[in-house]
Amino acid sequence: MGKIKIGIVGCGKISERASLPNLVNYQDKCEVVCLCDIIKDKADALAQKFSLKGVDILTDWRQLAARKDIDAVFVNTPNYLHEEIAVGAMNNKKHVLVEKPIAISVAAADNMVEAAKKNKVFIMVEQTQRFDPVHQAAKKVLESGVLGRIHNIRGRIGHAGPEYWSEGKPGWYYEKEKSGGGCMVDIGVHIADLVRYFKAKKVTEVFATIGTLEKKIPVDDNATVLLKFEDGTKGEFECSWTTRPYEVLTYCYGEKGKMTTSIGGNQPILVTYAKAGANQDPNHTLKGEIPEIAAGNGWENAVHYFIDCITKGEEPFVSGEEGRETIKVIAAAYESNKTGKWIQIK
Ligand SMILES: NC(=O)c1ccc[n+]([C@@H]2O[C@H](COP(=O)([O-])OP(=O)(O)OC[C@H]3O[C@@H](n4cnc5c(N)ncnc54)[C@H](O)[C@@H]3O)[C@@H](O)[C@H]2O)c1
Repeated sequence: MGKIKIGIVGCGKISERASLPNLVNYQDKCEVVCLCDIIKDKADALAQKFSLKGVDILTDWRQLAARKDIDAVFVNTPNYLHEEIAVGAMNNKKHVLVEKPIAISVAAADNMVEAAKKNKVFIMVEQTQRFDPVHQAAKKVLESGVLGRIHNIRGRIGHAGPEYWSEGKPGWYYEKEKSGGGCMVDIGVHIADLVRYFKAKKVTEVFATIGTLEKKIPVDDNATVLLKFEDGTKGEFECSWTTRPYEVLTYCYGEKGKMTTSIGGNQPILVTYAKAGANQDPNHTLKGEIPEIAAGNGWENAVHYFIDCITKGEEPFVSGEEGRETIKVIAAAYESNKTGKWIQIK
């Protein structure tokens, strides 16, 4: 297969900071053919910034989706448009890389999963935390079994809010009908997905307390969510738009030891476990190890992985189904916050 031909819909921050740099640095494998934004100047500006000579600029995503010379579409628009554009692209037999969250409702995610199946194309959800080298190293530790069965798993993600990402203009992030919600939908979706990925079991029940504590905004800025997994594992995650500076933390506690990861902190990853054969008081004899962390970053790894999947014809592991399971957790958490009850997830 030759170079994978890409069209991008939505030429805002994520295209500028994540998609285009990591497509341009992968030029032997892919080529950006077309950029689309309802604000033409934004597409023009990115074409210029990344020296995309000969790239076509469109303002209607339907024209981009219909083009014969495109293999895959990046859906980088505000959340409420993900479903319509992704389904439209897949109905034109394009593979799709859709930004997180997959969609703003479980029903929308269902339609996206269905469209991928019907059209025999791939949809990958850009849950970039899974691709961070620290989290990839952590996943290897969990899969190696040195910690034994994980009984408790916890995660936290926080930053100062989308106004700092979007140069002082939070725009659609604070409009519920466009975003689907506040910090829960924006970054809760990252940590819920990461915790699910680490545990590799279905979340079956959720209890949440979600609120707006500091910002004068119509959506949530802080949340704490309790999780039950299908095998009984106890879990929890927190997300916050009032945390300075940015951090992503996880804690996994197993039969034989524990692991902590920290992005934004001092020690990116630390694994503490009993060496085989040790039969002494584990409070004093466990060994700490720092696994090797590969180079790169989550955004780069995710974009390159998606291109490689299409080249090889292999379904991405962050499939539409995976994105849907994560948005189910978020939707159940909102429901729990409203009702004050544990909510079951089918
Ligand atoms: N994976 C990550 O780490 C990460 C980080 C930030 C944002 N995101 C996600 O990326 C997506 C985009 O966020 P952003 O911060 O880049 O937003 P943004 O507002 O900076 O950019 C969105 C762009 O979409 C354009 N747009 C709106 N409607 C359109 C339409 N109908 N057709 C074509 N273009 C249209 C807007 O004009 C704008 O340029 C969101 O889903 C967000 O959750 C992911």
